[in-house]
Amino acid sequence: MPDRSVVTVRVSPPYDVVIGRGVVDATGSLLLGADRIAVVSSESVLGFADRVLDVLKQDGREVHPLLVPDGEAAKDIGVADRVWQSLGEAGFTRTDAVVAVGGGAVTDLAGFAAATWLRGVRVVHIPTTLLGMVDAAVGGKTAVNTAAGKNLVGAFHQPVGVICDLDALATLPRADFVAGMAEVVKCGFIADPAILDALESGVGAEDGTLLHDLVVRAVQVKADVVGGDPTEAGRREILNYGHTLAHAIERDAGFGAWRHGDAVSVGLCFAAELGRLSGRLDDGTAARHRTILTGLGLPTHYPGAAWPRLRDAIRIDKKARGARLRFVVLAGLGQPTVLDNPPEELLEAAYAEVSE
Ligand SMILES: NC(=O)c1ccc[n+]([C@@H]2O[C@H](COP(=O)([O-])OP(=O)(O)OC[C@H]3O[C@@H](n4cnc5c(N)ncnc54)[C@H](O)[C@@H]3O)[C@@H](O)[C@H]2O)c1
Repeated sequence: MPDRSVVTVRVSPPYDVVIGRGVVDATGSLLLGADRIAVVSSESVLGFADRVLDVLKQDGREVHPLLVPDGEAAKDIGVADRVWQSLGEAGFTRTDAVVAVGGGAVTDLAGFAAATWLRGVRVVHIPTTLLGMVDAAVGGKTAVNTAAGKNLVGAFHQPVGVICDLDALATLPRADFVAGMAEVVKCGFIADPAILDALESGVGAEDGTLLHDLVVRAVQVKADVVGGDPTEAGRREILNYGHTLAHAIERDAGFGAWRHGDAVSVGLCFAAELGRLSGRLDDGTAARHRTILTGLGLPTHYPGAAWPRLRDAIRIDKKARGARLRFVVLAGLGQPTVLDNPPEELLEAAYAEVSE
């Protein structure tokens, strides 16, 4: 198990994800040649964003702090418009850059603004949530929400670097931290079972080495998958493990009412049951989903009466994305496969296992 030293995970197309404590001090070195830097952040991370601003100022950069709303409210075309306006007023050119400091919502919005300003300027992501570190900030997907749906407007725009400074998590509310763990668990089941062993043993929980190890491993899983599929045309689909039902739950509950990670937790249990009931996954591995997620304090059930609404939401989601109904299920630990157009009875039976 690594100590708290700095670990760098390389993602293809090449950029580095730097993981450690105090690593935010290296931000400027990722943006050589950028005279002006817009630091996009939100109220809840102002303290940490100040640290980034100081580092860049000391590096002799002209910094422009831009405040956007906390959470999903940031992912709005009106907010993007205000960012474009600020970049225009400050005279941002192609060699200037954006630094996003915040949760996945802020990195998605700032990434979108960077992708579209002058058809693309450099962006560095400094995620301040666990979910941002292991998921949203890595892989180059950016988006805003519109009346047509969540994340339907966006662009692929790879960052020039991602800085996962574990110090940023000090102020993160416990419930948001726990929700982020659902994506870490997902990485364990689809690709790196050592994550599950580490979580079960709990070794290093007190001194932070467990968290460090989990972030490194989960980022490595995401890097391995997106590196081979930068525009989501193939293998990246396995990252959607647990997400089909999760998206339906988020829609059903009303966006923002359920944390994404909490919905993913129920979705992972559902996907495990789909795998088990379709004869692909053994009972023990399916049960391990619930044991680990419950142990972390994550939800594993959703009301039984919601099934018809969730089924409709899955239909709407499928239609919006123009895809066939495909579920990622496991054929074993670390062996994701696709279940194409499963029969309704199978879906219902799997949902019965997670309904309350
Ligand atoms: N681009 C991608 O590939 C990708 C992948 C997964 C998720 N996402 C997106 O990420 C978003 C969810 O991200 P999230 O889970 O980080 O939620 P979030 O960005 O909404 O942050 C959760 C809450 O925590 C606050 N916060 C963030 N960091 C904090 C800190 N260090 N201290 C105190 N408060 C803090 C935020 O202001 C917010 O209120 C969604 O919009 C989702 O669509 C994108």
